[in-house]
Amino acid sequence: MTTKSYIESNKDRFINELLDLLRIPSVSADPKFKGDVLKTAEFVKDSLLKAGVDKAEICPTAGYPIVYGEKIIDASLPTVLVYGHYDVQPADPYELWDSLPFEPVIKQTEAHPQGAIFARGACDDKGQMYMHVKAFETLIETTGLPCNVKFMIEGEEEVGSENLGIFVNENKEKLKADVILISDTSMISLDTPSVTVGLRGLAYMEVELIGPNRDLHSGTYGGAVANPINVLCEMIAKLKDENGHITIPGFYDKVEVLTSEYREDLNKAPFDEVEYRKKLNIAAVAGEKGFTTIERIGIRPTLDVNGIWGGYTGEGAKTVLPSKANAKISMRLVPNQDFKEISQLFTEYFTSLAPVSVKVKVTAHHGGAPAVVPTDSVGYRAASAAIEETFGKSPIPTRDGGSIPIVSLFQKSLGLDAILFGFGLDTDAIHSPNEHYGIQNYLKGIETITKFHEQFAKMNK
Ligand code: BES
Ligand code: MN
Ligand code: MN
Repeated sequence: MTTKSYIESNKDRFINELLDLLRIPSVSADPKFKGDVLKTAEFVKDSLLKAGVDKAEICPTAGYPIVYGEKIIDASLPTVLVYGHYDVQPADPYELWDSLPFEPVIKQTEAHPQGAIFARGACDDKGQMYMHVKAFETLIETTGLPCNVKFMIEGEEEVGSENLGIFVNENKEKLKADVILISDTSMISLDTPSVTVGLRGLAYMEVELIGPNRDLHSGTYGGAVANPINVLCEMIAKLKDENGHITIPGFYDKVEVLTSEYREDLNKAPFDEVEYRKKLNIAAVAGEKGFTTIERIGIRPTLDVNGIWGGYTGEGAKTVLPSKANAKISMRLVPNQDFKEISQLFTEYFTSLAPVSVKVKVTAHHGGAPAVVPTDSVGYRAASAAIEETFGKSPIPTRDGGSIPIVSLFQKSLGLDAILFGFGLDTDAIHSPNEHYGIQNYLKGIETITKFHEQFAKMNK
């Protein structure tokens, strides 16, 4: 039997198994879901065993466990290390979902006329991670595994992968491989396949401004005492100038300068601004002056407020001059910016912007390094050939705006480049209400992954 016909005849089961996985709410950020996150690790381990690994184990960490599995058919053959994550983002705000986030349903959409699975984690990353389990099963049940395969599926990606770094450094021998394969990014479309060759880094900060020692009557005190929310807004407004340039001194010092040829190539990827605006219902795009939308996302750093709170936000009106104001502010970074250094520059500059009428506290949350993947490796050529087999055309290399901090960590500690073999679409609403993953993307992804293993084994001969 061919891999394609095996996938075709088992597709209902492949989908139903994923639906079962999606029913477990593995939200790593919220301790309320701890039992479910642990249950999900068990689910992943069992699914690896059923798919045919020789051994699978749940490796404890200081946080959520890492599921490890492997099938070594011949030590002289190349080894593919698959990385993915079984944890998901919180589903909030629940009221904006058309169906319940942990009760998956299949519905058609404009981008997915053949149906998409709606659930938190459908695309990021349970659906994409599970493709690897099913591709592995498919190979074992049909043509046979052409290379050794190891799985490392973690449960803390959405909260910064803090314990994964420790695990990787302590298990270098066990994780020894020739390439790392990750499906946790997006592609342009099913008609225009692409492979991600760059990811941005991240520096995530939280700030607090403290004014008077208690909330005050805004009539009795208003106008005479600094309002931390007003001050916070002024300070945030100073972080970017009118050209969308970040004003933190030293912020751009290490930003990689790309040649005009590179930029031209990058901009050759199809991008329809009108369609883009229409899908988001915005009248104009916005960003750093002098760069296209593709460049603003792929090769330029940025700064965004992710949340802001303080004062009275309940029903009706309350005349209060709040004692505190808070915001979460994150910066996406590009090669060769260092997130620790950027966090430090942010802290110094933000603190310097505060008037003496308020106290300011800045804390750094998790961060991560950016990554660039070379396109002249065996892994990239195998990925390209696999996509050519299943999509009928070679992929466009793209640079995504999101972050997977462990990609750079793998480069440093295992000396291995990752192949970012993503099959999601930007419109799949990851991290948003109504996240979904196309059935076609899922099935085609499984098939393409089987081809990757075959090509990678062949090219290593
Ligand atoms: N899968 C995403 C990253 C991603 C999405 C990369 C789309 C490229 C395209 C991952 O799960 C994620 O959400 N990463 C976080 C960073 C992490 C440290 C919390 C992100 O990018 O915000
Ligand atoms: Mn992800
Ligand atoms: Mn994510």
